[in-house]
Amino acid sequence: MIQPINYSTLPVDLHPEALPSHVAVIMDGNGRWATQRGLPRVAGHRQGAQTVKDLLRCCKDWGIEALTVYAFSTENWRRPMAEVTFLLRLFERLLRRELADMQREGVRIRFLGDLSPLPERLQALMQEAMAMTCSNQRVQFNVAVNYGGRQELVAATRHIAQQVACGAISINDVDEAALARVLLTYPLPDPELLIRTSGEQRLSNFLPWQLAYTELYFTDLLWPEFDRAAFYQALQWYQGRQRRFGGLAPAPLPQSL
Ligand code: IPE
Ligand code: IPE
Ligand code: MG
Repeated sequence: MIQPINYSTLPVDLHPEALPSHVAVIMDGNGRWATQRGLPRVAGHRQGAQTVKDLLRCCKDWGIEALTVYAFSTENWRRPMAEVTFLLRLFERLLRRELADMQREGVRIRFLGDLSPLPERLQALMQEAMAMTCSNQRVQFNVAVNYGGRQELVAATRHIAQQVACGAISINDVDEAALARVLLTYPLPDPELLIRTSGEQRLSNFLPWQLAYTELYFTDLLWPEFDRAAFYQALQWYQGRQRRFGGLAPAPLPQSL
């Protein structure tokens, strides 16, 4: 009898030394998942929250050091108010419910994006979660909320312009490293792998700088369907890629964070 694969540890055919150290995910397709089942769209968001919880745990179990997920874009405010309100409440509920477990499991959580338009109670909770988990080292979990890549680059440009204007750095110091230092993902390395579910093949304003040389993996699965077996497939695909960065030979493997 064929035994079902047990995904609690890294599947044996994946090479631990060739795993991405940082995975980025555009969690898309919650609404369609719910609509296909005759459910309201928000039921898809609720289910999607379970998926991300398990993916984070999976990263921890398999030795992937950083996970950055796109939870709410600067463009998502265009959705009906009821859906936006539901999402913000869901973030709050999840954070309340999961914070103690994340702390116990060594998760360091960071929210990337402009948090200032969010309800004050949610902002306070997010700040508390970031402060409480800031010295954890097992896995870094970044949640992009009210995040927009172009806005991030505008803010970074302003930051650098200010540094130049006040004489802290000179124009000649403005290079790729200086810009990377004022991005929200600093000091993490760029993601080696991006996963987008639901069949869409675009970035939707997610990490435009950081994804410049990332391997892009698209799957037709809807986000609530993206389980450990699907992640395993994405990693198998990733391990089959040759990352050349413009050269002719495969690049060395990623360093540990
Ligand atoms: C992704 O699922 C979750 C968020 C954008 C918050 P969607 O809500 O975009 O689901 P679809 O794309 O409409 O199916
Ligand atoms: C991208 O998904 C944003 C998130 C997953 C949070 P969208 O569903 O908002 O993107 P578009 O509208 O298809 O580009
Ligand atoms: Mg979508």
